[in-house]
This record gives sequence, C-alpha cells and structure tokens, in this order.
Amino acid sequence: MEFSLSNQLVSHFDGDCAVVFVFCDKQSEYESIQSSVELNNFDADAGNAMFINHVNGFKAGTVVVAGLGDLPVSAKKYHKALKSVTKTLIGLKAKSVMLESVVIDGFDGSWLQSSTARVMQNETYLVDKVGSENENESAFEIESIAIQSGDDDAHELSFGLATANGMSLARYLGDLPSNICTPTFLSDTAKSLAKEFSLGCEIIEESEMNKLGMGSLLSVSKGSIESPKLINLTYTGNGNAKPVVLIGKGVTFDSGGISLKPGAAMDEMKYDMCGAAAVLGTMRAVAEMKLKVNLTIVVPAVENMPAHNASKPGDVVKSMSGQTIEILNTDAEGRLILCDALTYVEKFNPEVVIDTATLTGAVIIALGKHHCGVMGNDQELVDDLISAGNKALDTAWQLPLDDEYDDLLKSNFADMANIGGREAGTVTAACFLARFSKKYRWAHLDIAGTAWVSGKNKGSTGRPVPLLTQYVIDQV
Ligand code: BES
Ligand code: MN
Ligand code: ZN
Repeated sequence: MEFSLSNQLVSHFDGDCAVVFVFCDKQSEYESIQSSVELNNFDADAGNAMFINHVNGFKAGTVVVAGLGDLPVSAKKYHKALKSVTKTLIGLKAKSVMLESVVIDGFDGSWLQSSTARVMQNETYLVDKVGSENENESAFEIESIAIQSGDDDAHELSFGLATANGMSLARYLGDLPSNICTPTFLSDTAKSLAKEFSLGCEIIEESEMNKLGMGSLLSVSKGSIESPKLINLTYTGNGNAKPVVLIGKGVTFDSGGISLKPGAAMDEMKYDMCGAAAVLGTMRAVAEMKLKVNLTIVVPAVENMPAHNASKPGDVVKSMSGQTIEILNTDAEGRLILCDALTYVEKFNPEVVIDTATLTGAVIIALGKHHCGVMGNDQELVDDLISAGNKALDTAWQLPLDDEYDDLLKSNFADMANIGGREAGTVTAACFLARFSKKYRWAHLDIAGTAWVSGKNKGSTGRPVPLLTQYVIDQV
C-alpha cells in the first residue's frame, strides 16, 4: 500500500474510489453527495460508511461516503471512520483511492497525515493462520491511497507507516502461540531486526544471568524447559546522548507456575509477552524513521511453568539489586523478571526508563480495556506519556503510587514479598517495581487490558506501540 499527498479535489480524482466525509449537522460540499445522503437516509454517525457508484461530478467510479458525527470532529471519531472506510474499500476491492481531508479538533495536518497512514495500514493487517496451507481469503491489497493536502512533504506519512509496521510486528508476535513464540524465538526475532536495521544486539544467556546475580528472573524460568533470554537492542541516532530505555515483559506463556492459573481462557496467557512485542515493535518503528534519538530496549524473556524444579510459594530469592524477595505467589512472575531487568539497565545511564507489561489482571478491573495504567516516580515523565498516548489515540490513565501502598509488600522473611494482597493490585505491583527503579526517572505501563482483545475477534492490538513511538518522536 502506497500513501501519497495530493492537492487535487477528490471529485477530480479519476481512480477507483473517492472517499468523502459527511457530518450529522452539516451539508456536504458536494451537492450530489448531499442528495444521496438524504435519499438513502444515511446516518452520518462516525463508523458508518456506504458507497455509491457513478456519482454526478465525480471522476472516480465509486464514492465512499463516511460519517463523522457532529462537528467538531474528534480524533477518536476520525479513527473510527477510517476503520470502516478501510473495510469498505477492501470490500469494494478498490486499488486506487483518494481521501478528502478533514479538520480534526485540536490536531493539525501532520497529525491527519500520519494517523491516516497508520490507521489504514494497521486496519489491513492480516492475521496469520499458523502453518495453514490455506491462503487467507481476505488477502486483498489496496495499491495506492492519496490524501488530500495542500502540503507536499510526505515525511508524516512515513512516520505513520513506520508506526503501523511496528504495530504489525507486535501483533504478529503477540498472536503466535507459545509453542512457537518462545524466549529463543523472541531473541531470534531481535537478531533479525538488528541485522535489518543495523542495531546493536546483545543476548544474555542463562549462564551470564547467573554471573550477574539475576536470582529473581531465574527463579521464574527454572521450572521451564525453555532457556531464558535477556534481549538488548540499541539504536544510536544521536551520538553520545543518554538513551531512552524501554523494557518489555516477555513471559511467552504464563501458566501461573505452582500457583497455577484456572483453566478458563488460559490460552490467552500466550499474550503475556505483549510488552516485549511492543518494545520490539517500537524499536522497529524508530529505526525505520531514522529518528535522531538514542533508544535501548531490553526484554527479559522466560516461560512460567509448574514443575518439580519450579519456584514454590514461600521461596526466597535474591535479585540482582541485592534485595531479597519472598515469592508468595508464583503467578506474580512479571515483576520478578522485570526487577532484574530494571537493575540491569542502570549500566546504560538512561535518560528515562519506561517498562511495559501485561502485569496485573487488576488493571482490567480498574480501567477496563480502553486505557492502560501508568505510574512512575517522575510526574513529568508520566505526563509526557499521557500526552503521547492522547496524540496517538493509545491512551494511558495514571494510578497513584504512594508509600502507603508500598507498605503492603512487607515480608517477615525477606526484604519484600512479591504480592501485596487483593487491594490495589496494579498499584502494589508498580510499588514493587519502584523499589528497583530508584536510580533514574522511571514509569511503568500496565497493558494487561489493552494489549489484546478476547472473544470472537481475539487478537493482539499492537498497543502500546503507538504511545511509545509517539513518546520517542516527541524526544527528538
Ligand atoms: N500475566 C498476569 C496478568 C494478567 C492476568 C494479564 C489476566 C492479563 C489477564 C500476571 O502475571 C499475573 O498473573 N498477575 C497476577 C498477580 C497476582 C498473583 C498478585 C494477577 O493479576 O492475578
Ligand atoms: Mn502471572
Ligand atoms: Zn504474567
């Protein structure tokens, strides 16, 4: 799919499909469209779309009419409309398309360009049926999409596409089953990214982790036959500047360990590496955009399994930081691998450290599946992440992180316990991480509610690649 900018009127576009937008409370600029809308009783709410062939005054064979609701047009409504436009275009097998431009409340033309490219490209993502010989019957590719614009600098389009490519990588990895997407598979993926984009790449193996004293991370992986990997990719776009460091939870399957999870929907615990997928996707996007920043990503990758040699409730382990942890629940494993990664990244002298993890079911209870949870030890960083999320329409909502919550982690037998009890589970998980993040500005994104959707449309969303990519763009 090729995106371009065009200063033509959509009515003059002589390809397959012209896309025009209509509003509930405003007449279309095009009389013929206005009369069709009235004739068909078209409901112009955002998300509704229809097509009309051979429209008076339009050179394109077909016009797709998409609703945007009431004015002013919010960014959310525009994204919603674009998704149904893309579906309609694919249904029509349109090869060449031109979109009318729209004024979005609070955003400029660059935003319109990059998010149009990102959303449309992402909407055409096809889920792979693993190993199936059958071709995906919905495989149809729109060849060219022109966006109406007075401006001819297309770099915003390439940013949108790079973000979509990062999301595709994250979605692909997330959807893969855990028998394929193992810690080794993630490290192989990182190696090929490194090759493709000339990134620095280091894979820390189990023996090295032992030497580094990563007793907490190793306590999670020891019950699994899969070897743990600590993956590190480095992108240098700005000389010796301090890097932005992203850490992604890479539990390729979370059975719960000896504190075994119940059976219902346990398959979805293949998605417990979506934090890892997101930081790999963000690295891909940033490298493709050739941003003038330094970015380092770290992925602790393990499988959490029950076994004779797995960790047991009550076991005490020593983390790389020297702090000891009483493992009261082996299902609170994400924080056990992240804490050693958080200590490991001190050596990069980070500008900021942001970790992202499918860390707690509690965040779904607190925020549902729309916003991810964000917490941190630096309000400016948290604010920057929230605004990046608002801009990318991949939103985050802050939860508190006061000392009172940290008290819940007290243990009689170690420096801390790995769980804080039923209350405020998302906050106590972040308090645990905060104990390992004292040496730098740090924030944590809990993406357990947003990284994938369940049910009939089960699949990875690619979040929070848009938020993280926007954050990195904002650092240039
Ligand atoms: N990976 C899970 C969190 C999770 C649960 C994500 C459900 C998405 C859906 C994490 O490792 C976990 O099991 N957390 C426990 C923590 C508890 C034992 C303190 C949880 O949320 O139940
Ligand atoms: Mn768990
Ligand atoms: Zn987990």
